[in-house]
Amino acid sequence: MCGIIGGIGNTDFRSFLLTGLTKLDYRGYDSAGVAYFEGDKIEIRKVCGRVAALSLLVPQTLHTKVGIGHSRWATHGRPSVVNAHPHASQSGMFAIVHNGVITNFKTLQNQLKARRFQFVSQTDSEVIPHLLEWYYTRSGSVMEALRLAAEELQGSYAVAILCKDDPNHLYYLKKGAPLLICKTQDGIFVSSDPTPLAELGGDFYDLPEGSYGYLGEQEVVCYCGETPTAPTPFPYSGVAQSNELHGYRYHMEKEIADIPYAIAALSDNYLSNGALCFDENLLSALSGAKRIHFLGCGSSFFACQCGVSAFRARGKEALASVASEWLGFPYDLDGTTFFILVSQSGETADLIRCQAILNEKAIPHLTVTNTKMSSLERKSTYSLLLYAGLETAVAATKTFVSEVVLLELLASALGGAAVTEADLNCLIEGANAVLGRRNDLERLLSAFGENTFCLATGRLLPIAREAALKLKEVGYLHAEALASGEMKHGPLALIGEGFPVLALVGEICGQEGLRASLEEIKTRGGVPLVISMASYAQDEDAFVLPNVPAPLVPSLFAIVVDLFAFVLGQSRNHPVDHPRNLAKSVTV
Ligand code: F6R
Repeated sequence: MCGIIGGIGNTDFRSFLLTGLTKLDYRGYDSAGVAYFEGDKIEIRKVCGRVAALSLLVPQTLHTKVGIGHSRWATHGRPSVVNAHPHASQSGMFAIVHNGVITNFKTLQNQLKARRFQFVSQTDSEVIPHLLEWYYTRSGSVMEALRLAAEELQGSYAVAILCKDDPNHLYYLKKGAPLLICKTQDGIFVSSDPTPLAELGGDFYDLPEGSYGYLGEQEVVCYCGETPTAPTPFPYSGVAQSNELHGYRYHMEKEIADIPYAIAALSDNYLSNGALCFDENLLSALSGAKRIHFLGCGSSFFACQCGVSAFRARGKEALASVASEWLGFPYDLDGTTFFILVSQSGETADLIRCQAILNEKAIPHLTVTNTKMSSLERKSTYSLLLYAGLETAVAATKTFVSEVVLLELLASALGGAAVTEADLNCLIEGANAVLGRRNDLERLLSAFGENTFCLATGRLLPIAREAALKLKEVGYLHAEALASGEMKHGPLALIGEGFPVLALVGEICGQEGLRASLEEIKTRGGVPLVISMASYAQDEDAFVLPNVPAPLVPSLFAIVVDLFAFVLGQSRNHPVDHPRNLAKSVTV
């Protein structure tokens, strides 16, 4: 989602802003822009498209001491140059970049229109510079304008602000959206997340929630209302994670190829001398809970569903809810349920809202995430990291597999047959075998048009859902996941000559029923394409996976469906790393 970058000090601002925006790329964006001082004028440059296009508009010889930049993922108003940030106030006194959503923007817009402010964009964000100008004109003080604006703005916002009358400061507003600062010898820099600031080598601080203020070259001034406050240290190691492609053409391709390493990283971090090692307090909280309630979104929700099967297999009552649905009707809050929040980014807004409810009620919970010091991780009672390395492509691949494997390890630490290092090694071997057979998957592509069903049963049903999601996301085809037993209750009506059906067969449970459904599909002209595990395979199956220990079967199927979606998306020349309309980190 939207990303903010900015700073004040002595640096090459052209390079800082443009490289910073590129590093925020993983959040997904459709337009980008920067604002900086040229003499005593604020210059704004923006494009609908990529940072590379923006770089053509920014002078090579940019001499400024203060600048801001933004990558926009459209929410209010289509992607366009006019809707791209920075937005200027009516007279050009203020230029702002905003991440978040102003929920009362219509009301504010009407009030400002009545005060003769003209709006040029369709965004919610444009009310911010006009509101600042309104109060600044009346008070003559930027800080007073910020204080009064903060009282009126509702929703979530991280805003970096330039004021034409004051080229020596970078102003900000922050409530409910991330904004970090990095203090260095050369100045102070801000961003939505630490990634673009990691190489600056300074000290990180979090700006206080609900605060406003300004940054000078070596000073930070923050207020909450009329009370002075101070930034809090943010213990970020400052080590930039590599985003290199290492010879691969696509991040998604590389990240799928990384999966065996991601599994090995889990083995290194959660097994010691052959035994599973998790925090004892976490294990006793899990064992003591009446039930386990998983919350997640998208692929991470499907990982949650795999977690449910893993815990149920160990006799633990468990269920999973889509975070946005649970928010509408939060339940299981009587203190007897233990919550597990699963999110690779740790920044997914719906899940952050769920966590706020849990924290308000002091309900202990665990966050499973790939991102140390992410919003969710920082505010969680317990956390488990995936150690999968940076994931850049929008589609979750290695992190999804890591989530599934880690939840299996955690469940197995509660009792029953434990997953061993040998089991994980077997999964790594299986993963390598699958990754080496990309050509076999390419042979299936010609069967696929615009629609497909993904069938499975039992523990593979969440993986069929993951397959359908990935086929939509990078293959742009309509894919629907179904429990195979449901075919005859309606969906069979769509089956006709040549209709492709992807089926995952690797479970004893429901296997016969699934094969029977496939016969019914064939009889009606449909084309079953079966991915099966060796011990359940039949001669006509399209792709046979090596056997792996039962608890790790869903993980191996996850690898093959991710690889298949990549191969399909790439064969259709889709932008597999940045599918249209999607963002890596869903922060709204
Ligand atoms: C699909 C995908 C998304 C994410 C979802 C949750 O490939 O990546 O569905 O899984 O947006 O994101 P996280 O895990 O960061 O909470």
